[in-house]
Amino acid sequence: MKGAVFVALQDMIMDEFELDLWHQIIDAVGSDGVYTATLNYDDQELMAIVGEICSRLSLSRADALRHFGRYLFDFLHRGHPMFADSKADFHSFISSIDGVIHLEVMKLDDQARPPKIEVQTRPDGDTRLLYSSERNLCHLAEGLLIGAADHFGINIELEQLCCRLEGAEVCEFRIGKA
Ligand code: HEM
Repeated sequence: MKGAVFVALQDMIMDEFELDLWHQIIDAVGSDGVYTATLNYDDQELMAIVGEICSRLSLSRADALRHFGRYLFDFLHRGHPMFADSKADFHSFISSIDGVIHLEVMKLDDQARPPKIEVQTRPDGDTRLLYSSERNLCHLAEGLLIGAADHFGINIELEQLCCRLEGAEVCEFRIGKA
């Protein structure tokens, strides 16, 4: 996973909790805690850090990833504002994640492996978002979507219809306007 994601997680812990917590976490996972945004690091290291956050803050993995996803959206947007700023609304933004944003990520780094995201508009006007990644970070995707909705000033209703962690082939979300 790109170092940018580790840097965002470090920023979140330092912004929202005591500075010392980050040092305790990286000590516990045996990392030096030095991450460069453009380099790639082991996925397992990120999962170990998330695991430490969960046990130290008594959070479930899903809640920790959702919370981080909201923060990560703002972090990514600060670094790359053009992706959202060039879109008129939330729907056209999320429709560009796979074919524009993550495609760009892969063009810049052939080791990057962003998730596969497909957005479908149903005849009844419902939006469905299909997420798949061997990392199974659908709760992170959920937090990113909530962050994006906040950015576009709308409230969304997110319902996860199925999950790879429960054996489904993809994680599917229904996105409705609240
Ligand atoms: C609502 C919008 C977005 C969603 C739902 C989304 C979803 C995700 C998720 C869930 C991951 C974790 C990796 C995985 O699941 O395998 C990821 C990775 C990543 N995303 Fe996005 N993303 C969004 C917007 C963005 C934006 C705006 C950028 C800006 C550049 C971005 C760049 C990246 C990068 C660099 C990675 C790391 C890929 C890697 O290390 O292989 N994403 N994205």
